[in-house]
Amino acid sequence: MADAAEWKRTDVEMPAQGETCPFSIDGRPLLLCNVAGTPYVVADRCPHASAPLSKGRLTDHVLECPLHGGKLDVRDGTPIAHPIRKPVAAYPIRRTDDAIEVSLEPFKQGRETDNA
Ligand code: FES
Repeated sequence: MADAAEWKRTDVEMPAQGETCPFSIDGRPLLLCNVAGTPYVVADRCPHASAPLSKGRLTDHVLECPLHGGKLDVRDGTPIAHPIRKPVAAYPIRRTDDAIEVSLEPFKQGRETDNA
């Protein structure tokens, strides 16, 4: 549960709506996504073949991987288009007055699918 998690302060700034911003915490590559003003954080590594998702395109809540075109739902990491079958880790996020904080304990793990 996120309330018991350790929150890590970041210096990442909220990107514009529909944009993403890569950052890292403790060497872990992460990606902040702005979906209509709501922030979501996922791992910045595609679960298919580890491409950096920060080079992909965000459309609403769907992030398209730049390497093979697989798609993920950044709200919970669920894969929604081939060839991604495994979910990407999605992390809790909260805003304080002057920073964005992230828990490195994934709060949701999307479903695996049999996208074909
Ligand atoms: S590396 Fe992302 S779809 Fe293949």
